Amino acid sequence: MLASKRILLVIGGGIAAYKVLDLIRRLKERGASVRAILTRAGAEFVTPLAVGALTETRVHTDLFDLTEEQEIGHIRLSREADLVLVAPATADLMAKMANGLANDLASTCLLATTAPVMVCPAMNPRMWSHPATRRNAETLKRDGVVVIEPASGRMAERGEEGVGRLPEPLEIVAAVERFFAGAGGGALLAGRRVIVTSGPTLEPIDPVRYIANRSSGRQGHAIAAAAARAGASVTLVSGPVAIPDPPGVTVVKVETARQMLAAVEQALPADVAVMAAAVADWRVATETSSKIKKDGSGRPPVLDLAENPDILKAIGQLGFGRPAVVVGFAAETDDVEANGRAKLARKGADLIVANDVSPETGVMGGTRNTVHVISADGAEHWPTLTKDEVAERLVRVIAARLGAAP
Ligand code: C5P
Repeated sequence: MLASKRILLVIGGGIAAYKVLDLIRRLKERGASVRAILTRAGAEFVTPLAVGALTETRVHTDLFDLTEEQEIGHIRLSREADLVLVAPATADLMAKMANGLANDLASTCLLATTAPVMVCPAMNPRMWSHPATRRNAETLKRDGVVVIEPASGRMAERGEEGVGRLPEPLEIVAAVERFFAGAGGGALLAGRRVIVTSGPTLEPIDPVRYIANRSSGRQGHAIAAAAARAGASVTLVSGPVAIPDPPGVTVVKVETARQMLAAVEQALPADVAVMAAAVADWRVATETSSKIKKDGSGRPPVLDLAENPDILKAIGQLGFGRPAVVVGFAAETDDVEANGRAKLARKGADLIVANDVSPETGVMGGTRNTVHVISADGAEHWPTLTKDEVAERLVRVIAARLGAAP
């Protein structure tokens, strides 16, 4: 139900715009109030009259309509909403949003809004898969915009097939409902403190060489971002990664496992700890302060390894001051579920998110993940989801456990 939710619908210029007429009806049926902004291109596909008839309010079309500015003003228009929904989001509109352009009413409102924003891209499959659009979609996600994946199927252009269709109105309504029910709007973790570790650790061999691993930090960062969107105060302790800091999160940057443990301990107390970093199990015990040189003997140097502290275990097994919910990850290449279960007990975690990271899955460094969430109650097998979706679901699971905790 969307009772009393105020939705500002930005209608871009694409053939799929006709579907938003039905979308408005469906949103209103569920109790939402809908105001609409029609871009100039959008108005080539649906008329202000049709949109206005369905929203039962005046449709806003141009920033430079002075009467309109006097009556409401684009800043107010953009802020008097619980959600700004962009459908269809054309490649052009996404590019404007990603770059902060503001040269018409729609893009100005999108830049001025303080409300959460959800975009439903719809375009030709080649435009959707173009690196520029991919980049823009990633930028928007990083900016905290919820990007709904387009559907696949036949396009309006004859003979074209692929990913790029606007999802059906009811699917968009479901995404909006999930948003309000879930991490996006429900402030599920309001007032909670959450610590997340993410990325690899880097263990020096000498001043120029190190041991590291292939973790991109995407899943951990997505969890930190989702927890922040859900109202938590989040400290993200991150190893070296090539992705930007998530918005609304305190980021502590570390390199080694020992630094990561110290930063996590420093960030305590917390209600929740999500240890998603790929912490190196071993460090080089004999780290030297000068670069190791070939000695001409033809014999390579031998590196002595020492075990690193296990951060998850340290937190999971804390007596006093243990976070109420401790979540670990299990990146496995075989026996994913069984190994996850064993890890739950060994590390003192409440939840283990186990995933298959064999090279053929593309999980390492990729944007999607297939996980099994293991707790003392059993295992939940989630479908293949984007790492952002995994993060949002995990936030809901954590919030539910916190709700049930004493
Ligand atoms: O034992 P394994 O490395 O497979 O366990 C993975 C889980 O333990 C992850 O949640 C990881 O972040 C955490 N871990 C840790 N410190 C370590 C090793 C693993 O926090 N030294």
